[in-house]
Amino acid sequence: MPNNKKEKPAGPNRLQSVKGMHDVLPEQVAIFEKICKNAKDLLDFYNFQRITTPIVERLDLYARTTGETSDIVEKQMFTLKTRSSETFALRPEFTPGIARSYIQNNMDQLSPPVKLFSIGPLFRYEQPQAGRLRQFNQINAEIFSVENDPIYDAQIILAGYQILNDLKIKDIIISINSIGCKNCRPNYRKALINYYKSREKQLCEDCKRRLPTNPLRLLDCKSEQCQPFKERAPITVEYLCGPCKKHFKEVLDYLDHLKLPYMLNNFLVRGLDYYSKTVFEFITETSETEKKISFALGGGGRYDYLVDELGGKPTPAVGLALGIERIIEVLRHRNLIPTNRPKGKVFLVHIGELAKKQSLCLVELLRMAHIGVIESLGKESLAAQLRVADRVGSPLALIYGQKEAHEDSVLVRDMKTGAQETIPIAKLPEMIKKRLG
Ligand code: HAM
Repeated sequence: MPNNKKEKPAGPNRLQSVKGMHDVLPEQVAIFEKICKNAKDLLDFYNFQRITTPIVERLDLYARTTGETSDIVEKQMFTLKTRSSETFALRPEFTPGIARSYIQNNMDQLSPPVKLFSIGPLFRYEQPQAGRLRQFNQINAEIFSVENDPIYDAQIILAGYQILNDLKIKDIIISINSIGCKNCRPNYRKALINYYKSREKQLCEDCKRRLPTNPLRLLDCKSEQCQPFKERAPITVEYLCGPCKKHFKEVLDYLDHLKLPYMLNNFLVRGLDYYSKTVFEFITETSETEKKISFALGGGGRYDYLVDELGGKPTPAVGLALGIERIIEVLRHRNLIPTNRPKGKVFLVHIGELAKKQSLCLVELLRMAHIGVIESLGKESLAAQLRVADRVGSPLALIYGQKEAHEDSVLVRDMKTGAQETIPIAKLPEMIKKRLG
């Protein structure tokens, strides 16, 4: 996770993590885990089951699915060659590995729909910048079914929206489009190629190269010189066949019914080759300095041909992924990250050799009673230990000295009022629970 503290400049002898890959430090783990737990609980409610696929897959899996001409496969793969000259890749996204696993493990035999989710790290060789890392984490969910029912598009969009909503990110707009199916997309491709052909000389080098192979990607282009052409380019929805139009209309009807805020975006094509019909992104606005920028916290879409193309039975599917680091970035900007104070944990203060010796047993007693306890076992002075208790915000300090150790008791001090009371150890758990409510 990018660290807010200024990084020290890398000198020849400085140890540094690899560019674009960050440590998640202890103080950052709490929010990371909270996001994962919220997502797990919500996906569990919608009956998604967790699947963990390997971080390493065969390189050609991504070429066949994400697409030879996608940015990911063209420029962003971390690849490794084994001693026996096989080429593997660190996964840049979850979807191809999950589809591979679905086929390999005969999940088509399960009662449909098969709903799977994953959480974990991914790797893309990108130019690191705000919200763009080389190692990042996603919450990813997929629905494999036997029919391409638009209700699943709506359910996956709802799940992504609610995960963000539960984290108090309230201004999400669902940017949505349909890019058609195998029947209607060829006509749209032709129209796009015709349109761009006469403007080819004025396009950026990437667009020139992509025009014959993947013209839809031209709509994704961010380069200044291509923007005016993009605005007048033919739009997908005008080329959709009857079934695709119906499908898209039904998806939007579901979103209306759910009162989810969406915005039709004719230019949304997404950078991955496997999509068909519905594509969407979750957009929020964030301000870097004065300027407001739109930020995609996640995205996804339908991919009805992917399982078939990998050698499985034709299996319509739809999925989404949310970027955990991007979510954290937005929460941080909006001061929505709770401070990491241990709530309701008592603080154990030990004084003298005997108390120190017995303090680990006392901690165990509290653990068995499900009472959180913080200690500073290496510190000897009473004042130093009470200062720590104060700093971490413990409501009660358990002062365990020579006398108490001999008498099997503890002096319990209320950190707010300073009132103290001696309690026999046998009654300690009950008394603490009462005091902490
Ligand atoms: P994606 O749009 O490539 O889709 O990634 C989804 C989200 O992952 C992005 O919106 C962003 O939040 C986060 N993300 C992507 N790249 C980076 C990066 N370099 N650094 C930080 N965060 C990043 C997919 O990955 C598809 N597999 C989603 C999907 C699932 N489609 C169907 N099923």
